[in-house]
Amino acid sequence: MTEDPDRLPGWPAETGPAFDARRTLLKGAGGLLLLAAGGLTWRAYDTGVFEVGQGPAYEPWQSWQGDSGVEGSLALVRAAVLAASAHNSQPWLFRIAPDAIELLADPERNLGAMDPFRREQHISLGCALENMVLAAGAHGYAPAIEYLPGRLDEAPAGDPLMPAARLRLAPSRRDISGLYAVISQRHTNRGRYLAGRAVPHEVIWAFNDLAREDESVRLMLLQDGEKRARFDKLLVEATEGIVADPEMIAASNAWFRLTPGEIETHRSGLTIDSFGLPPLSRAAVKMLPKPEPEKTHRQWVAATRDVQLATAPLVGLIAVRDPYDRAAALRAGVFWQRLHLWATSQGLAMQPMNQIVELADRQRQLGKEPEMAVRLAELLGDDRWQATFAFRAGYPAVEAVPSPRRGVDELILEGVPQAPLEERPLISEQIGF
Ligand SMILES: Cc1cc2nc3c(=O)[nH]c(=O)nc-3n(C[C@H](O)[C@H](O)[C@H](O)COP(=O)(O)O)c2cc1C
Repeated sequence: MTEDPDRLPGWPAETGPAFDARRTLLKGAGGLLLLAAGGLTWRAYDTGVFEVGQGPAYEPWQSWQGDSGVEGSLALVRAAVLAASAHNSQPWLFRIAPDAIELLADPERNLGAMDPFRREQHISLGCALENMVLAAGAHGYAPAIEYLPGRLDEAPAGDPLMPAARLRLAPSRRDISGLYAVISQRHTNRGRYLAGRAVPHEVIWAFNDLAREDESVRLMLLQDGEKRARFDKLLVEATEGIVADPEMIAASNAWFRLTPGEIETHRSGLTIDSFGLPPLSRAAVKMLPKPEPEKTHRQWVAATRDVQLATAPLVGLIAVRDPYDRAAALRAGVFWQRLHLWATSQGLAMQPMNQIVELADRQRQLGKEPEMAVRLAELLGDDRWQATFAFRAGYPAVEAVPSPRRGVDELILEGVPQAPLEERPLISEQIGF
């Protein structure tokens, strides 16, 4: 398969076909400067061509360390909102008490048909939890996590607002982890990776060491060989399966923010900047009209196969005992965030690639043959564990940029936690650094 650096290496390739047009355009006109001089400057402005990571939607990346002396535990929330989340849905809300922070799943923010059991929503909350734990140490707290027990596939319809986890905070000496230091440098990288640059053994050992820190998760890493080929094939077929499901595509597209206006209004979701394109291609894609859906879907499949998988020296699966157990989903998120932060500290690029698990959930929701789940289980090869998250890793050919974030002000719930929540027994866990 030939590698095409111009192909959109993003998700539902809303912008994919623009590449064909872009090539023609740039060839004929001699590049973006000429385009602008030719009277398209207004459109460049309108579509934010010249803005990358600018404006209030990106401000949380600047101010996240706050003022430790003044802010108290609010600083932990500022770190939490910089975590990864499925489709950048940021499905979190927080309630602050003097000695604890409650992390709640926002019932309004889920991916519908892309995440019918809110498994990914809870993985996302786990990512936020990890950032909070790291920030707790840095701000002089000893944190202990309490997870809400229960199953995601038995949740009542119209799930009420309830905590997913609680972080108990006791005053302690400050403990600034190296992972804390890179919280604002971690970004999902959907671009090409340096295909010729392998991930060294030491990195793979370190990934496995991180996985061993939590006995509730397992990590499978694949570089090449028969299993890697099966992983790639399955991922491409899952992408094709999602593209063929109009409800999944609609649910995914609902989180795309293609103009500066949409970005500032929502301060969440996926932007053109987050697709990992080289700067010129990124600018060109923003200038061109929105392409036809069928073509964009073909481009997404092709980009998954020919760019993202083709240039990734390493892929991996995170497995848990039961992906529909609330605490297990959160812990998978804690682990992913930790892994990605550590990789960031080493100059590695990473991208979750969850089409297989998403389609498995969808087949389960619709009561279809569990084809994806069966093939994923065969790949994992250990029936005590089930994959809940997939990713790729490598060295970046293009730097990833920040994605928008909502500020903490709109995420803090006021008031004393309701009595039933306090009575609920949570699974407790002591954290060590
Ligand atoms: C549970 C979960 C699932 C995700 N799945 C995908 C995926 O399949 N493909 C992808 O490109 N990014 C995926 N992401 C990455 C998010 O889209 C990303 O974290 C979000 O857009 C915020 O961007 P950032 O990580 O650069 O801060 C996933 C993240 C999480 C936490």
